[in-house]
Amino acid sequence: MADATPSLPFASVALSAALSAHAARIKALGYRGLLAADPNRYAPLSVEAEGLLLDFSRQLIDPKALKDLLALAEASQVSEAFERMCRGDRINASEQRAVLHTALRDQSGTALVVAGEDIRALVRQVRDHMRRFVAAVTQGERRGATGSRFTDVIHIGIGGSDLGPVMVVEALKSYTNPALAVHFVSNVDGVQWADVSARLNPATTLVVICSKTFTTLETLTNAKLARAWIVAHLGETAVAAHFAAVSVNHAAMNAFGVADEARFALWDWVGGRYSVWSAIGLTVELAIGSAHFEALLKGAYAMDCHARTAPFGQNLPVLMGLLAVWNRHYLAMTSHAVLPYDQRLHRFPAYLQQLAMESNGKRVRREGSPVDYPTEAVLWGEAGSNGQHSFFQLLHQGTACVSIDLLLPARSSVGLQASQDLAIAHALAQAEAFAMGYTEAEAWAELRAKGVSMEQAHALAPHKVHPGNRPSSLLLCERLDPSTLGRLVALYEHRVFVESVLWDINAFDQWGVELGKRLADALAPAVTGAGPAPSGLQPLMDRLARWRR
Ligand code: F6P
Repeated sequence: MADATPSLPFASVALSAALSAHAARIKALGYRGLLAADPNRYAPLSVEAEGLLLDFSRQLIDPKALKDLLALAEASQVSEAFERMCRGDRINASEQRAVLHTALRDQSGTALVVAGEDIRALVRQVRDHMRRFVAAVTQGERRGATGSRFTDVIHIGIGGSDLGPVMVVEALKSYTNPALAVHFVSNVDGVQWADVSARLNPATTLVVICSKTFTTLETLTNAKLARAWIVAHLGETAVAAHFAAVSVNHAAMNAFGVADEARFALWDWVGGRYSVWSAIGLTVELAIGSAHFEALLKGAYAMDCHARTAPFGQNLPVLMGLLAVWNRHYLAMTSHAVLPYDQRLHRFPAYLQQLAMESNGKRVRREGSPVDYPTEAVLWGEAGSNGQHSFFQLLHQGTACVSIDLLLPARSSVGLQASQDLAIAHALAQAEAFAMGYTEAEAWAELRAKGVSMEQAHALAPHKVHPGNRPSSLLLCERLDPSTLGRLVALYEHRVFVESVLWDINAFDQWGVELGKRLADALAPAVTGAGPAPSGLQPLMDRLARWRR
């Protein structure tokens, strides 16, 4: 752990200094010291709200440090920032955009007028459109060009136009309609397209193209493959029946031939990674049905209300955001692992990667000056038990500094409670091991008790040491249903927002993905030999050209 704490953009230098002192004190104590000082840590360091229980008693924190962290959130005006976002201020200043994903799940029925338009009325219109479309497809009123009912949906999109829908469909697989299978195609290399299209019948397949801009190369490439596939099997006139699209780009949807009633509006105030609640979630609604999709939205709305009104000490997203800043800044954690103990959540870490790292992987402050403090940690993860048999070794004994969230539904998502009970045991055991560790003295005593010789015990004990002090939170829920998932996703969205407020960065632009895109566009002709390559790449291009032949 780094000793020198870099500065923060905090309103309160005094609080930041106090937090550095807390960090030094707590590092010296370690988790075992914290537990010895207060064996009842769970009570002050856990919060249950909106059906989610956050147990952060295994974080390297205590109530004194938490008090100052909460004061820091007040000084940073987190509530005011949240209100500015929800009321439609252009808080995405580098793109001059409002940020209104919360309006997509609003259940209040009241108006929200931004730049002369009632945003919530626009959202309701699109929700009605989505519901009608989903009913028409699932009830067989809307059919393919040959008159067959749709049995499959191919969702084409990438980044925020893919990760949210994939993650939700996987998480809610137990709620999906078996008569309408959904498939996802995102990568540009054609592999997913080839695999999916090879096993589907074009006559019974609906293709949903999701691209906010309708200019993203990966999505357009796959959309063209899909169009050619439909046209080759069913003729040009089938395009209108077999495609739906979600975009702000009406001209591009026109050019593609998407039928009027199969186009769904999106707005520039919905960021890609915050868009699963919008018509980008059309495939989700087709898969799980409108009632479950509504439950997802209602869950997210419940979390929005909680984030807006709960006192900071009881406020889940505020607490999680503060813990993220604490771990990153004061304890110098460079990486954050999210480990769901439910296979249904296996794409949740991938979804969170974009949410956290595209939002907060920034190096300048809101007004453009470089930060001199660390921003978002590298976020990654994997479904719990699988991870245990792969990278947990490093989490327990490696030299990397990783903070951890363990997600844990109490009930089985598939009715196999005895199996989920084992998953629960594993998650709790891991959390304990991360925190407590296992000392050399303990290892030694255990080896000797097993009859291992002094010499062997001496040789083996250092290998068995687990240093502990790996900070983790447990996030529990009763079951993974649509409403719970909505609350969980909104919780992480707001956690990311809270971090961005403390770090004074714009969480809603993504200029860092543009340079690579531009370079790829420029290089594409060189790969096929139709254009020159920059001199540094010429040897590789020559080698590739020989292999491509
Ligand atoms: O990867 C950059 C990005 O702009 C993401 O923010 C976005 O989710 C993704 O590309 C897809 O963009 P679009 O929906 O416009 O195709």
